[in-house]
Amino acid sequence: MIPDHLPHRIWQELARATQDRHHGWRTPVLATVGADQQPNARTVVLRQAREPVGELAFFTDGRSPKVAELQAQPQAVLVFWSARLRWQLRVAARCEVLTDGPEVDTAWARVGQSAAAGDYLTAQPPGQPWAEGELEPVPASTGAHHLAVVRARVQTMDWLALGLDGQHRRARIEGQALTWLTP
Ligand SMILES: Cc1cc2nc3c(=O)[nH]c(=O)nc-3n(C[C@H](O)[C@H](O)[C@H](O)COP(=O)(O)O)c2cc1C
Repeated sequence: MIPDHLPHRIWQELARATQDRHHGWRTPVLATVGADQQPNARTVVLRQAREPVGELAFFTDGRSPKVAELQAQPQAVLVFWSARLRWQLRVAARCEVLTDGPEVDTAWARVGQSAAAGDYLTAQPPGQPWAEGELEPVPASTGAHHLAVVRARVQTMDWLALGLDGQHRRARIEGQALTWLTP
Protein backbone atom coordinates (compact mmCIF):
# COMPACT_ATOMS: atom_id res chain seq x y z
CA MET A 1 0.00 0.00 0.00
CA ILE A 2 1.41 3.37 -1.01
CA PRO A 3 0.94 5.67 2.01
CA ASP A 4 -0.28 8.60 -0.11
CA HIS A 5 -3.10 6.51 -1.46
CA LEU A 6 -4.36 5.05 1.78
CA PRO A 7 -6.63 7.92 2.92
CA HIS A 8 -8.32 7.97 -0.49
CA ARG A 9 -8.65 4.16 -0.50
CA ILE A 10 -10.34 4.34 2.89
CA TRP A 11 -12.80 6.99 1.69
CA GLN A 12 -13.49 4.89 -1.40
CA GLU A 13 -14.46 1.95 0.79
CA LEU A 14 -16.62 4.18 2.98
CA ALA A 15 -18.44 5.46 -0.12
CA ARG A 16 -18.90 1.89 -1.36
CA ALA A 17 -20.37 0.91 1.99
CA THR A 18 -23.13 3.50 1.60
CA GLN A 19 -24.18 1.77 -1.66
CA ASP A 20 -23.52 -1.88 -0.88
CA ARG A 21 -25.72 -3.55 1.74
CA HIS A 22 -23.22 -6.38 2.09
CA HIS A 23 -20.19 -4.20 2.74
CA GLY A 24 -18.85 -4.77 6.25
CA TRP A 25 -18.47 -1.02 6.74
CA ARG A 26 -22.18 -0.49 6.07
CA THR A 27 -23.01 -0.88 9.76
CA PRO A 28 -20.46 0.78 12.05
CA VAL A 29 -20.77 1.02 15.80
CA LEU A 30 -21.30 4.57 17.02
CA ALA A 31 -19.87 5.24 20.47
CA THR A 32 -20.97 8.27 22.46
CA VAL A 33 -20.79 9.60 25.98
CA GLY A 34 -24.08 8.80 27.70
CA ALA A 35 -26.19 11.21 29.73
CA ASP A 36 -24.78 9.48 32.84
CA GLN A 37 -21.23 10.17 31.54
CA GLN A 38 -20.76 6.45 30.90
CA PRO A 39 -19.79 5.06 27.47
CA ASN A 40 -22.66 4.09 25.17
CA ALA A 41 -22.57 2.38 21.76
CA ARG A 42 -24.90 1.07 19.11
CA THR A 43 -24.97 0.00 15.45
CA VAL A 44 -26.02 2.50 12.76
CA VAL A 45 -26.21 2.38 8.95
CA LEU A 46 -23.66 4.52 7.13
CA ARG A 47 -25.63 6.70 4.69
CA GLN A 48 -23.09 9.18 3.32
CA ALA A 49 -19.33 9.41 2.98
CA ARG A 50 -18.11 12.68 1.48
CA GLU A 51 -14.36 12.72 1.10
CA PRO A 52 -14.04 16.34 -0.16
CA VAL A 53 -15.55 17.70 3.06
CA GLY A 54 -14.40 14.86 5.34
CA GLU A 55 -17.89 14.00 6.51
CA LEU A 56 -19.86 10.85 7.21
CA ALA A 57 -23.59 10.79 7.90
CA PHE A 58 -26.21 8.48 9.32
CA PHE A 59 -29.94 8.77 9.96
CA THR A 60 -31.72 8.39 13.25
CA ASP A 61 -34.87 9.32 15.13
CA GLY A 62 -34.47 12.89 16.40
CA ARG A 63 -36.04 11.83 19.70
CA SER A 64 -33.63 8.94 20.32
CA PRO A 65 -31.30 8.98 23.33
CA LYS A 66 -28.22 9.10 21.08
CA VAL A 67 -29.37 12.47 19.73
CA ALA A 68 -29.61 13.99 23.21
CA GLU A 69 -26.21 12.49 23.97
CA LEU A 70 -24.64 13.99 20.85
CA GLN A 71 -26.23 17.37 21.49
CA ALA A 72 -24.71 17.39 24.97
CA GLN A 73 -21.34 15.93 23.84
CA PRO A 74 -20.79 16.02 20.04
CA GLN A 75 -17.53 14.10 20.22
CA ALA A 76 -18.07 10.50 19.07
CA VAL A 77 -16.25 7.47 17.69
CA LEU A 78 -17.40 5.26 14.80
CA VAL A 79 -15.89 1.76 14.59
CA PHE A 80 -16.00 -0.16 11.31
CA TRP A 81 -14.92 -3.74 10.58
CA SER A 82 -14.80 -5.42 7.19
CA ALA A 83 -14.10 -9.17 7.26
CA ARG A 84 -13.52 -9.11 3.48
CA LEU A 85 -10.89 -6.37 3.63
CA ARG A 86 -9.71 -7.45 7.10
CA TRP A 87 -9.71 -3.74 7.90
CA GLN A 88 -10.80 -2.07 11.11
CA LEU A 89 -11.37 1.68 11.06
CA ARG A 90 -11.84 3.82 14.14
CA VAL A 91 -13.02 7.32 13.34
CA ALA A 92 -13.05 10.17 15.84
CA ALA A 93 -15.65 12.68 14.72
CA ARG A 94 -17.59 15.70 15.85
CA CYS A 95 -21.29 15.25 15.25
CA GLU A 96 -24.01 17.69 14.33
CA VAL A 97 -27.67 16.68 14.47
CA LEU A 98 -29.95 18.13 11.80
CA THR A 99 -33.67 17.79 12.52
CA ASP A 100 -34.94 19.98 9.68
CA GLY A 101 -33.78 21.73 6.51
CA PRO A 102 -32.95 20.57 3.00
CA GLU A 103 -30.67 17.68 4.03
CA VAL A 104 -33.39 16.20 6.22
CA ASP A 105 -35.98 16.72 3.47
CA THR A 106 -33.73 14.92 0.96
CA ALA A 107 -33.13 12.09 3.42
CA TRP A 108 -36.85 11.74 4.08
CA ALA A 109 -37.62 11.71 0.36
CA ARG A 110 -35.37 8.63 0.23
CA VAL A 111 -36.32 6.87 3.49
CA GLY A 112 -40.02 7.81 3.38
CA GLN A 113 -40.50 5.50 0.38
CA SER A 114 -38.72 2.56 2.01
CA ALA A 115 -39.70 -0.12 4.49
CA ALA A 116 -37.75 1.81 7.15
CA ALA A 117 -40.19 4.75 6.97
CA GLY A 118 -42.27 3.40 9.85
CA ASP A 119 -39.24 3.63 12.15
CA TYR A 120 -39.49 7.40 11.98
CA LEU A 121 -43.26 7.71 12.27
CA THR A 122 -43.93 6.22 15.69
CA ALA A 123 -46.05 8.23 18.11
CA GLN A 124 -43.80 7.39 21.03
CA PRO A 125 -40.09 8.21 21.17
CA PRO A 126 -37.63 5.32 20.89
CA GLY A 127 -36.56 3.77 24.18
CA GLN A 128 -39.88 4.35 25.99
CA PRO A 129 -41.52 1.57 28.02
CA TRP A 130 -43.85 -0.19 25.61
CA ALA A 131 -46.75 -2.64 25.87
CA GLU A 132 -47.74 -4.72 22.85
CA GLY A 133 -50.38 -2.95 20.75
CA GLU A 134 -49.76 0.49 22.22
CA LEU A 135 -47.54 1.82 19.48
CA GLU A 136 -49.37 2.96 16.37
CA PRO A 137 -47.34 4.80 13.74
CA VAL A 138 -49.01 8.01 12.60
CA PRO A 139 -49.88 7.96 8.89
CA ALA A 140 -46.98 9.00 6.67
CA SER A 141 -49.31 11.38 4.84
CA THR A 142 -49.27 13.76 7.85
CA GLY A 143 -45.57 14.32 7.16
CA ALA A 144 -44.93 14.10 10.91
CA HIS A 145 -41.73 12.11 10.68
CA HIS A 146 -38.88 12.27 13.21
CA LEU A 147 -35.98 11.55 10.88
CA ALA A 148 -32.78 13.35 11.80
CA VAL A 149 -29.53 13.40 9.85
CA VAL A 150 -26.35 13.19 11.90
CA ARG A 151 -23.31 14.67 10.18
CA ALA A 152 -20.03 13.41 11.55
CA ARG A 153 -17.03 15.62 10.75
CA VAL A 154 -14.03 13.31 10.68
CA GLN A 155 -11.06 14.40 12.78
CA THR A 156 -8.77 11.37 12.87
CA MET A 157 -8.84 7.82 11.59
CA ASP A 158 -7.08 4.82 13.05
CA TRP A 159 -6.77 2.12 10.37
CA LEU A 160 -5.73 -1.43 11.19
CA ALA A 161 -5.23 -4.07 8.51
CA LEU A 162 -4.93 -7.67 9.64
CA GLY A 163 -2.54 -9.58 7.42
CA LEU A 164 -3.26 -13.24 6.69
CA ASP A 165 0.42 -13.89 7.34
CA GLY A 166 0.24 -12.25 10.77
CA GLN A 167 1.82 -9.07 9.38
CA HIS A 168 -0.56 -6.38 10.56
CA ARG A 169 -0.38 -2.75 9.57
CA ARG A 170 -1.72 0.29 11.32
CA ALA A 171 -1.86 3.97 10.44
CA ARG A 172 -3.19 7.16 11.93
CA ILE A 173 -4.67 9.59 9.43
CA GLU A 174 -5.41 13.23 10.08
CA GLY A 175 -6.61 14.97 6.93
CA GLN A 176 -4.07 13.84 4.33
CA ALA A 177 -1.29 13.34 6.89
CA LEU A 178 -0.51 9.70 7.53
CA THR A 179 1.61 8.22 10.30
CA TRP A 180 2.43 4.51 10.41
CA LEU A 181 2.04 2.99 13.86
CA THR A 182 3.04 -0.31 15.36
CA PRO A 183 -0.11 -2.44 15.25
C1 LIG B 1 -27.88 -3.53 11.71
C2 LIG B 1 -28.45 -2.39 12.50
C3 LIG B 1 -28.54 -1.15 11.91
C4 LIG B 1 -29.07 -0.06 12.62
N1 LIG B 1 -29.11 1.15 12.02
C5 LIG B 1 -29.56 2.22 12.71
C6 LIG B 1 -29.52 3.53 12.15
O1 LIG B 1 -29.08 3.75 11.01
N2 LIG B 1 -29.99 4.56 12.90
C7 LIG B 1 -30.46 4.38 14.16
O2 LIG B 1 -30.86 5.36 14.78
N3 LIG B 1 -30.52 3.16 14.73
C8 LIG B 1 -30.07 2.08 14.05
N4 LIG B 1 -30.09 0.83 14.62
C9 LIG B 1 -30.61 0.69 15.97
C10 LIG B 1 -29.58 1.19 16.98
O3 LIG B 1 -28.51 0.23 17.04
C11 LIG B 1 -30.16 1.41 18.38
O4 LIG B 1 -30.69 0.19 18.90
C12 LIG B 1 -31.27 2.45 18.40
O5 LIG B 1 -31.02 3.48 17.45
C13 LIG B 1 -31.40 3.08 19.78
O6 LIG B 1 -30.18 3.69 20.12
P1 LIG B 1 -30.06 4.80 21.30
O7 LIG B 1 -30.98 4.34 22.40
O8 LIG B 1 -28.63 4.77 21.69
O9 LIG B 1 -30.49 6.12 20.72
C14 LIG B 1 -29.55 -0.25 13.94
C15 LIG B 1 -29.45 -1.51 14.52
C16 LIG B 1 -28.91 -2.56 13.81
C17 LIG B 1 -28.82 -3.90 14.48
